[in-house]
Amino acid sequence: MTRLLVCPPDFFRIDYEINPWMNRENAVDHMRAVRQWDGLMEGLERRVGATLERMTPVRGLPDLVFTANAGVVLDNLAVPSRFRHPERQREQTHFEEWFVEHGYELRLLEDGVYFEGAGDLLGVPDLWLGGYRKRSDVGAYTQISELFGREIIPVELVDDRFYHLDTCFCPLSDGEVLYYPHAFDGYARAVIAERLEENRRLTVPQSEALRFACNAVCVGRKIALPTGCPETMRMLRDRGYEPIPLELDEFMKAGGSAKCLTLALGE
Ligand code: ARG
Repeated sequence: MTRLLVCPPDFFRIDYEINPWMNRENAVDHMRAVRQWDGLMEGLERRVGATLERMTPVRGLPDLVFTANAGVVLDNLAVPSRFRHPERQREQTHFEEWFVEHGYELRLLEDGVYFEGAGDLLGVPDLWLGGYRKRSDVGAYTQISELFGREIIPVELVDDRFYHLDTCFCPLSDGEVLYYPHAFDGYARAVIAERLEENRRLTVPQSEALRFACNAVCVGRKIALPTGCPETMRMLRDRGYEPIPLELDEFMKAGGSAKCLTLALGE
């Protein structure tokens, strides 16, 4: 059973602008956000078959809903995030407390290195990628690679709209990936192409990348993804996956969708 950390959207709002999707004038419709979040939870529990761990929301921390950015976990180790923006740095202690209270051993990065958790560190078993430049620093991956004893290939993100790796890259179950190549620099694109044969790479069209098609949660053959991505759904079905489209546009106002709202905790 895959366990996912989530945080209810009680205090979710657009209070500041730290990515191109955010605009303080584009206010969140609270009831709608709650309904969409509940719909995601129901989809994840009943249709995807995940177990949910709910964190307590905190007033004044509108982006705490994006638990993908809590940190990364491997077995009982957790590396908590070190956010680039002061607005989100206030979330760190809450995520750290959650990890400690739930039995994880913290492994802290050296001071002065930014790292935004599973929003930027993702992989299939034989290829782990660490997105950098927009949020996380490349140096984070040298440290995490040593801690976890696994190779992590840093990949540079070049488009501000795709500021976290999970906005343009999604590992699937059979070692395949969904991705939007133009969000990466040429070197990163070449590395991905070299390490994953062509038939394991599903390329999302720009229009659907901009609907956050890659911000999907894949457990086994089931994939929860935002609505409005028909071409991505077709590709997934052709490969034997079962896409589950969910309306999450209130969260796009903050620059996030299905995957950002969850953190994989392992089995
Ligand atoms: N407003 C949040 C931010 O800019 C959204 C985070 C989305 N999370 C993600 N893993 N892509 O940090």
